[in-house]
Amino acid sequence: MNYLGVDLGTSSVKLILMDAAGKILRTVSKEYPLSMPHTGWSEQAPEDWWTQTKAGILELMAGLDASQLAGVSFGGQMHGLVILDKEDRVIRPAILWNDGRTGAETAYLNDRIGQDKLAAYTANIAFAGFTAPKLLWVKNHEPQNFARIAKIMLPKDYIAYKMTGVHCCDYSDASGMLLLDVAGKRWSKEMLEICGVTEAQLPALFESYDCVGTLLPSAARELGLPERVKVMAGAGDNAAAAVGTGTVKNGTCNISLGTSGTVFIANDRFRLPENHALHAFAHATGKYHLMGCILSAASCNKWWTEDILKASDYAAEQRGFVPGGENEVLFAPYLMGERTPHNDPSARGAFIGLSMNTTRAQMTQAILEGVTFAVRDSVEIARGLGVDIQRTKICGGGAKSPIWKQMVADVLRMPVESIATEEGPGLGAAMLAAVGCGEYQSVEEIADAMVQVTSVAEPDAKAADRYDAAYARFQKIYPALKPVLG
Ligand code: XUL
Repeated sequence: MNYLGVDLGTSSVKLILMDAAGKILRTVSKEYPLSMPHTGWSEQAPEDWWTQTKAGILELMAGLDASQLAGVSFGGQMHGLVILDKEDRVIRPAILWNDGRTGAETAYLNDRIGQDKLAAYTANIAFAGFTAPKLLWVKNHEPQNFARIAKIMLPKDYIAYKMTGVHCCDYSDASGMLLLDVAGKRWSKEMLEICGVTEAQLPALFESYDCVGTLLPSAARELGLPERVKVMAGAGDNAAAAVGTGTVKNGTCNISLGTSGTVFIANDRFRLPENHALHAFAHATGKYHLMGCILSAASCNKWWTEDILKASDYAAEQRGFVPGGENEVLFAPYLMGERTPHNDPSARGAFIGLSMNTTRAQMTQAILEGVTFAVRDSVEIARGLGVDIQRTKICGGGAKSPIWKQMVADVLRMPVESIATEEGPGLGAAMLAAVGCGEYQSVEEIADAMVQVTSVAEPDAKAADRYDAAYARFQKIYPALKPVLG
C-alpha cells in the first residue's frame, strides 16, 4: 500500500507519495500567497491551503491507482491561528507563526501573568508567534471576530477538518499554542481562562500517528480518492521533519533550514529547560523534544537573491565565496523579528562592516553565515543546558546547498548528516501515515527501517576557529542594534 504526506508550509504545500518500503513514488508542490499587510504581520487564507492541497493531490495521483492509497498524514507550519464560525466559515485570514503583531499581548502574558506561571501551566513562556497571544490580540483588536469563534485550529488541522470533518490536533503541534499542558498532554484550564476560550472551541487531541477518521464522501469525491483512506493527525512541521530525518532517539538533533530555522533535539522524557530559552514540546513519537527557532533562515537568502538581486540561480550566487570565516561583512537575519534567543518581534536585520571593496558574493555569504550563527545561538543554549549534541541531521531548502551544509558543520563544529531527501516534513508525514495504518509498529521502527544517511559534511578545524571569532562578533550585533531600532 501507499502513503501520502502533506507538508503544509509557509510558501507552498509539498506532497509526497511513498510506498510501504519508503520509496518516494512522486512529489508535487503547489504555492500560495503570503500576505504582509503591515511590517511584521504575516497572514494566509486557509481556503488557499485547501484549494492548493486538493489541486496538488489530484496532480500527484494522476494516472496512479488510488485504491493503493491507505493513509494520509500531515506536517504543518506551526502556531498559526485559524478560527471558524459556527457555520464552519473562516472568520479572518490565519495569523502565522512569523507574525509579530502581538508584542503587547506577549508582554502581558510574560510580565503580568508571569513566566513562571506560564511555564507551570504549559512548559513554555509566550513568544509573539505562539497561538495564545494571537487569540488575545483578536480579543483586544477584533472583538466582533472573537465573539464569532466556534472552532480554533492550527493550519494543518484545517486540512484534516476539511478531509474528515473531525476537529483534531496532535500533541506536537498543540504544544506551540501555549494552551496545552505539555507534560500532562491536556488543555490547560488556566490558559483557556486567561485567553477567554473554552475547551469546546478547541480540537480533540491525538498522538501524531493516531487515526482521526476516514475521508468524508464529499472530500473523497473532490480528491478522487476512496472514502476508506485513513487520515492520521500528523505533526507540527518540525516534529514531522524530525521523523523524516530519523531524529527520534534520545539526544539526537535535526536542523531545519526552511523559511524558519530550527534546532530540534529529541528527548525520551519531558524536560523543562531551566531558563525557558528553548521550547519544551511533545514529539510525534509520543515522547518529547526541545527546540530553538529563528524566524528567518533560508527566507533571508530568498529575499536577498530574488527580491533584492532579482536573481534565481542560487548556486551561481554562492560561487564567489571567500574561505569560511574570512568575510569582513556580517549579517543579522532578523527580517521578521526574532524568536530564539531574543524573543523580540521588533528586532530587524542589518549588514555590518560594508566597505567600497565589499562584493555581492561577500554579502550573499554574510547572509548564509548570519543565519548559521543565529542557528548556533540555539545550539549554544542547548549546550549550556548540558545537552551534548555530537552530530546533527539537516533538512529544508537550505540543505540543498553543499556550501551551506559545510558552513553549518564548520560553525557548529560537528558532522552534519543528510538523508536522500531534504523534504523532511512531507516524508515524516507519510511515515506517520504508514504507522497509523499499522504498516509499522512505531515511529522509531519505521525510522530505523527507512532513514539512511547519504552524505556527511565533516567540520574543518581551521574554518571552525575562524568562525568562532566571527560568531563572537555576531553576538554583539543584536545588543548594539537594539537602541538604534528603539
Ligand atoms: C516553530 C516555528 C516554525 C514553523 C515553520 O516553532 O514557528 O518552524 O513551524 O513552519
